[in-house]
Amino acid sequence: VRDNQATASEYVAEYIIQRINAFAPTATRPFVLGLPTGSSPQQVYAILVAAFREKRISFKHVITFNMDEYVGLPSAHPQSYHTFMYNHLFSHIDIDPSNVHILDGNAPDLESECAAYEAAIRKAGGIELFLGGIGPDGHVAFNEPGSSLNSRTRVKTLAYDTILANSRFFGDDLGKVPRMALTVGVATVLAAKEVVIIITGAHKALALQKCIEGPVNHMWTLSSLQMHQHALIVVDEDATLEL
Ligand code: GLP
Repeated sequence: VRDNQATASEYVAEYIIQRINAFAPTATRPFVLGLPTGSSPQQVYAILVAAFREKRISFKHVITFNMDEYVGLPSAHPQSYHTFMYNHLFSHIDIDPSNVHILDGNAPDLESECAAYEAAIRKAGGIELFLGGIGPDGHVAFNEPGSSLNSRTRVKTLAYDTILANSRFFGDDLGKVPRMALTVGVATVLAAKEVVIIITGAHKALALQKCIEGPVNHMWTLSSLQMHQHALIVVDEDATLEL
């Protein structure tokens, strides 16, 4: 538990830097990092960029897999997760663009796209560290309430609560928010060697309580993390209000 979003983000960013540096990735043994979008990781990315500029970290031998992407939004759309990731992280660091993996929500065959994504993760040797956030309903990636805890990368219809929450990025116009997304599954996240989740703000307090004090269940999909051997949840004081 950290005081606020800034100090929670700092903790997470420094944790990731330390993990990558301790791993000492090379061309033949890259570090495989899973990444989220949303407001929660934004400050983490800013600190990673600053650390890169200070030469405290290099992403030359880091491979990334993003959690999710909207279906049907052009990848150059200002609200696509593709755009988000380049704006906040990839354009500012030394990552090789061929090491960046983001689901293509405009692929002609979405099911094949998802299967190929799982195959690419396997080929990379699995995810070393998956960073994530949660929605106010406890969803991780776009694994909405009711998602199978065994789910893998697939097409998902967004829950009304998620469309409502994300409408702030679409000029508060619910009609502009995509209705579907491609997302890694709960089991894809749980298969990572380590999972780090950042949760800040009073609006996430109920979700944090349900996910860590409640039973493991598919209505609060992050509760599945209780079964992971190596999980870290970093929160601010506000998020602890219901604990
Ligand atoms: C979206 C993303 C999730 C993210 C959630 C919370 O639904 N698919 O990966 O965790 O939003 O976003 P925020 O951090 O902006 O609250």
